[in-house]
Amino acid sequence: MLRLDNKQIIKIYSNTTKTDAAKSYERISDFYAGKSVFITGGTGFLGKVLIERLLSTCTDIESIYVLIRSKRGMKLEQRLREITDAPIFDKLKSIKPNTIKKIIPIEGDVSKPDLAIRTSDEQKLKDNVSVVIHSAANVNFLASFRTAMKINYEGTKNIIALGKKMKNLESFVYISSVFARADKLTIDEVIYPRLRKEEEVYSFIDMYGDDAKTTEKFLCGSPNPYTMSKSLCENYLQENRGSMKTIIVRPSIVTPIIGEPLPGWCDSWVAAIGYFSDIIRGLTKVTYGHPNVVIDMIPVDYVSNLTIVAAARGNQSDDVLVYNSCSSSSNPISSQMINDLILEESLKYKNHEWKPRKVKLYLSPLVVKSMMFALEMVPSFLADIFLRLKGETPKYMEMQKLSILLKYVLRKFTMKSLYIKSENSQKLIATLDEKDKVLFPSDPRTISWFKYIPIFCHGIQKHLLKSKQ
Ligand SMILES: NC(=O)c1ccc[n+]([C@@H]2O[C@H](COP(=O)([O-])OP(=O)(O)OC[C@H]3O[C@@H](n4cnc5c(N)ncnc54)[C@H](OP(=O)(O)O)[C@@H]3O)[C@@H](O)[C@H]2O)c1
Repeated sequence: MLRLDNKQIIKIYSNTTKTDAAKSYERISDFYAGKSVFITGGTGFLGKVLIERLLSTCTDIESIYVLIRSKRGMKLEQRLREITDAPIFDKLKSIKPNTIKKIIPIEGDVSKPDLAIRTSDEQKLKDNVSVVIHSAANVNFLASFRTAMKINYEGTKNIIALGKKMKNLESFVYISSVFARADKLTIDEVIYPRLRKEEEVYSFIDMYGDDAKTTEKFLCGSPNPYTMSKSLCENYLQENRGSMKTIIVRPSIVTPIIGEPLPGWCDSWVAAIGYFSDIIRGLTKVTYGHPNVVIDMIPVDYVSNLTIVAAARGNQSDDVLVYNSCSSSSNPISSQMINDLILEESLKYKNHEWKPRKVKLYLSPLVVKSMMFALEMVPSFLADIFLRLKGETPKYMEMQKLSILLKYVLRKFTMKSLYIKSENSQKLIATLDEKDKVLFPSDPRTISWFKYIPIFCHGIQKHLLKSKQ
């Protein structure tokens, strides 16, 4: 009989453990090998980064189906080019030019019955898709309640209905927003009870349309119809997901790329980016807020990487799994610090509308309004008179009015700190080995704001402000 001494036994055990550990660790790219992903919102800011990251990091992915609606009379192929012509695809196209052929456009509209997609396309999706990432939404904070419900809520219902028909679906990921429940000061990674019943919302809309005052009361503390619609989607998903393994990723304020493939890239003027760009170009001198208020921001590539990882790791539980993709609880940054870092960087640029100045923050709306009048409206009015005298078209009052409206809309986010928890996300990131942590950076604790804000400002300058001039 073969007898092993202790040393040999220890060696065998340690080898077995190593081999088992190596076997049980699934690379994120291995999960996607040979599989197809269906993405909505692929022409958007986050969607483009998601597609690029999936193609660059998961090289054996089978295909990415992207739902694209017809818009501005453009053909489907032209709209597809809107995605692949974005500079974030340059690196991929130069290294692996054929990879972008894995993007398969599917014509459709989330807000239409059955997504208005062709029967043959629906069949392809039902047969082939393993992962759904539903990112499409109307993200306009000023959108009417009806529009927010039509695109965000009905759209999500339609995508859920399709997801349930998919034969090989492993993960259904809904991109929500941490601000869906900004009525709370602490936001945990759970789905909170409904704010309103669906029928209540529709009868309210039928009765009051978009009357601002009644809407504000009806929203139960949710900042706007957009955030309310996102929160209702979460409830709908929880109640109607069937057997789909469901994950919700909730980003906070999504900001330009910090890392791969193109630091600083951003193509969205949406809400917060418009707000920061107004500080960069010197339009904003005063706003609603307090220097110590924490502003929760997260780079778009971190959101995208977390989403890719979350879908790959799946949901082993019977509940919906929620991941907050945010920074306030793990690496907070205050309004004052953001403004100071933006100012320091912006002063290096020569193309501002006005010389950027330290932004003053006040909680009193009366003080903010008076200061805006004196420091922003009056100089803009005078600058427009000067333009008229030179025979040029006035522009500053119009720009300033938009900037003031944006500050007003965002005041609900800039006047109070939210503490957004992210333990689930931290646990998810902890499942990655060192190689995958490098490939899919998503841990907000790794962000150095001192290094990132200059990248962020440079990106807004290069990709948004310069292109606008
Ligand atoms: N950006 C942020 O700061 C932020 C923060 C928290 C959460 N989120 C969430 O992240 C997701 C992505 O946001 P984003 O910043 O990437 O927004 P975005 O740039 O405005 O992109 C929105 C995407 O949704 C698509 N879409 C809108 N209506 C559609 C419809 N009826 N049918 C099909 N597609 C439609 C748009 O397509 P078109 O090109 O055809 O318009 C676009 O691809 C959203 O769910 C949003 O709620 C964003």
